[in-house]
Amino acid sequence: MTNDIQQVLISEEQLQARISQLAEQISREYAGKDPIFVGVLKGVVMFFGDFVKRVTTHCQIDFMWISSYHGTDSTGSMIVKRDVSENIKGRHVVILEDIFDTGNSLDFTYKHLLSKEPASLKICTLLDKPERRNPNVTLQPDYTGFVIPNAFVVGYGLDFNEHYRNLPYVGVLKPEAYEK
Ligand code: IMP
Ligand code: MG
Repeated sequence: MTNDIQQVLISEEQLQARISQLAEQISREYAGKDPIFVGVLKGVVMFFGDFVKRVTTHCQIDFMWISSYHGTDSTGSMIVKRDVSENIKGRHVVILEDIFDTGNSLDFTYKHLLSKEPASLKICTLLDKPERRNPNVTLQPDYTGFVIPNAFVVGYGLDFNEHYRNLPYVGVLKPEAYEK
């Protein structure tokens, strides 16, 4: 499996160091606010676990699962497959995501959660690929782990055809791996 990786873009050590910084910053900014961290499945799993265990303020966790609905048009509208279970009205919510790419899925998630009237709503993404942004998406992440170039990455939760999520680092696949 690791033979399929052409280049390690972000090592395990780099991921852990940056996630510690993010958790420290967010713990400071949300101290006493009892925030709810909402993870967007499935890509966020690794980041989510490593992040929340370093948060030092009182907090809660929740999860959402969204998926693109491929109907007759190819615009890929989104549906909520699994909604948050907590009542987030009046609460301070931080969305955690694996990657901000075109921004379409976070735009959808953000609007969905905003309609539930949280006291505040922010976005924390591990990776940001600004070159790929849909020009209609004006939303920006409030907290970013790493800005990466326009390459398809796998590992640390991110998949290609549901594989490679278990790698402890973020890497770029060899071209021949796409044929598997
Ligand atoms: P969006 O394009 O910002 O809506 O991102 C949608 C989803 O596509 C992300 O949450 C990821 O699950 C997936 N995605 C985007 N870029 C990559 C990548 O480079 N590798 C793996 N998954 C990706
Ligand atoms: Mg995702």
